[in-house]
Amino acid sequence: MRVIVPPIKSQGIKTKLVPWIMDVAPKVKGRWIEPFLGTGVVAFNSGYKEAILNDTNPHIINFYKGVQSRKITAPLMKQYLEIEGKYLSEAENNGYEHYLKVRSRFNSGEFSPYDFIFLSRAGFNGMMRFGSKGNWNIPFCKKPDRFSQAYITKITNQVSAVSQIIQVEPNWIFHNKSFAEIIPLATEDDIIYCDPPYYGRHVDYYNGWTENDEELLFSLLSETKAKFVLSTWHHNDWRENEMVNKYWNKFNIITKDHFYHNGGSIENRRTVVEALVCNFDVVGIEQHNHGQKETSKTKQLEIEWLTEKTATPL
Ligand SMILES: C[S@@+](CC[C@H](N)C(=O)[O-])C[C@H]1O[C@@H](n2cnc3c(N)ncnc32)[C@H](O)[C@@H]1O
Repeated sequence: MRVIVPPIKSQGIKTKLVPWIMDVAPKVKGRWIEPFLGTGVVAFNSGYKEAILNDTNPHIINFYKGVQSRKITAPLMKQYLEIEGKYLSEAENNGYEHYLKVRSRFNSGEFSPYDFIFLSRAGFNGMMRFGSKGNWNIPFCKKPDRFSQAYITKITNQVSAVSQIIQVEPNWIFHNKSFAEIIPLATEDDIIYCDPPYYGRHVDYYNGWTENDEELLFSLLSETKAKFVLSTWHHNDWRENEMVNKYWNKFNIITKDHFYHNGGSIENRRTVVEALVCNFDVVGIEQHNHGQKETSKTKQLEIEWLTEKTATPL
């Protein structure tokens, strides 16, 4: 599978896992619903013509809505990056002064989607992180010549690729809400793909994640009539994700080793065993299940669900 890579970068980007996720996700006749969109790499490779896409990070949604409405185009992005890239290469302190200038105009409340891409691509290690006041706080990658012609072409092509995939409203709808308002929109014909912030791992302004969030997500996904696939981490060399035993074990779980290249702490750079949790039987996928029983849990779930519903007092 040739994976379309979006113009936004982040440390949790699922580019390498897209083929695995799409193999597991069944084709449905309804919509692709993604409450935690992030860079959008999974949605852009889902192949669905109808989608509901959401993220609490307004800059991500603002950028993709701009692409959708054609206010942001590949030629405009090229023009912008050529100008800003030139300023960067000529700026004092090895480009750092210009990086700071763009960062402060973004943080002052201008929030230009073009500056958002500049910061995403000229920041340290392709990371996206916002401070306690919602300010972009990634340091400069220290490469004054970051925006070479080849790099500009690469980004421009990425904008062009996603602009061909993103469908007009109302076929693709973008929201900037909490996942709790998005999951209940799904019907039995839809598929929900969830990639929430990982419990117990890095947090920032738009990525706070508590056990209450995990519990709410669990209860919404337990109630949905749609099919769902949830990405989470299973364990790493040091510890297990306690949320798997506490909540997700009642569903089917498939795992795979994955190496994250980016991330601030050493722990975040190591190999993580990734998990896909789903509420349907997965056929024909190699399940390297790390001690989980490989028996189907769908039947058991149906029984539990029916018992819960019929046990409600009149
Ligand atoms: C792990 S990232 C998703 C990465 C994405 N799958 C990708 O490949 O780029 C999680 C995303 O969830 C968003 N988010 C965090 N809390 C949220 C919430 N309560 N409701 C909706 N989105 C949330 C974050 O802004 C972040 O973009």
